Amino acid sequence: MKVITVLGARPQFIKAAPLSETLRKKHEEKIVHTGQHYDYQMSDVFFEELGIPKPDYFLGVGSKQHGAQTGEMLTKVEEVLLEEKPDWVLVYGDTNSTLAGALAASKLHIPIAHVEAGLRSYNRQMPEEINRVLTDHLSTLLFCPTDQAVHNLALEGLTKGVVRTGDVMADALYFHARRASELRKGDGLRYPEKSYLLATVHRAENTDNPQRLQGIVEAFSRIDGQIVLPLHPRTKKLLQDYKISIPGNVQVIDPVGYLEMVLLEKGAELILTDSGGVQKEAYLWQVPCVTMRDETEWVETVQIGWNTLTGAAAEKIVSAVAAYRQNSLPPYQENLYGNGRASEEIVAALEEQRR
Ligand code: UD1
Ligand code: UDP
Repeated sequence: MKVITVLGARPQFIKAAPLSETLRKKHEEKIVHTGQHYDYQMSDVFFEELGIPKPDYFLGVGSKQHGAQTGEMLTKVEEVLLEEKPDWVLVYGDTNSTLAGALAASKLHIPIAHVEAGLRSYNRQMPEEINRVLTDHLSTLLFCPTDQAVHNLALEGLTKGVVRTGDVMADALYFHARRASELRKGDGLRYPEKSYLLATVHRAENTDNPQRLQGIVEAFSRIDGQIVLPLHPRTKKLLQDYKISIPGNVQVIDPVGYLEMVLLEKGAELILTDSGGVQKEAYLWQVPCVTMRDETEWVETVQIGWNTLTGAAAEKIVSAVAAYRQNSLPPYQENLYGNGRASEEIVAALEEQRR
């Protein structure tokens, strides 16, 4: 079986790490990197640290308007697919690279397998929501991380080819947690455990709106404690453009590699984020999470009380942090995102479909 994997953004490298390794035990895989993310700390570091095979094709598309970026990826991925003639195109998540890979494959009648299918925020203002809905409807195999994702697809009439596999991000975390802990023996961790809060901000709805970004920064300034903020380049640029200054209790650092990130997560008293992946990782490390968005696709952690949705209003963010500090944490539910074997289940389903 020959699989072409199309990826391009930070979380996709992390998702691909465990699956690529499992897939290559028995099958041929070629990786197409669209170049959506290109800084060393947003791309290469993950390939090096997680042992992901070097991309066979690097399309070098880079940062652009959504239409131009997706269109250029579509043209270039199509050329690769015409040359390689794979049995499957594998795409991850909900970025513009995901949609371009799926569209290119669908035009050539190559079956698509979508990892992290069925997630919905029901907010069509988010570029990610458009990308994931379209990709799901183009896919032959839809690999769902959660029961909720399976349910969401059923509501749209998608039941064929839907497989509940668990989450490859949990596979990655379980697999690399030990290596990350070994790093602790070196100088991989700069902050003592539970002495800080960890924050990430990059979602367009927060960064492209100065009021929302200002609200988040104001909340940070009102939280008692040091906040470590590995800063996404998008947010760095917009903070400068809006002339928003960073409060003294916030330590801004460059984006970090995955092993350092998971250690920062594990050691945090609490996590503040608008990232999808970081919400799940907070839960897997049993660290409470405040999600600075109006809705989330990862509803399970909110439902069981480990994650609070606040939007970007300073008051709500500060109150959510205070509530976690005052109350004891709810019971922890094991295997919410699978048992760390999602990659094996995905490869088995691909093989089964080929028979
Ligand atoms: C993209 C995804 C988002 C995902 C995120 C993961 C889409 C629509 N969005 O958002 O779903 O959560 O990746 O991190 O696909 N930049 C750099 N260097 C880089 C990459 C980006 O400086 O290596 C800067 C550029 O100014 C660029 C901006 O960040 O314009 C945004 O990058 P882009 O890939 O368009 O979107 P993300 O916000 O990263
Ligand atoms: N991450 C990382 N370094 C950082 C910030 C995030 O390795 O400085 C990891 C994080 O642990 C998670 C993934 O990147 O595995 C999440 O990606 P991101 O927040 O960029 O995108 P999203 O999940 O929101 O699409």
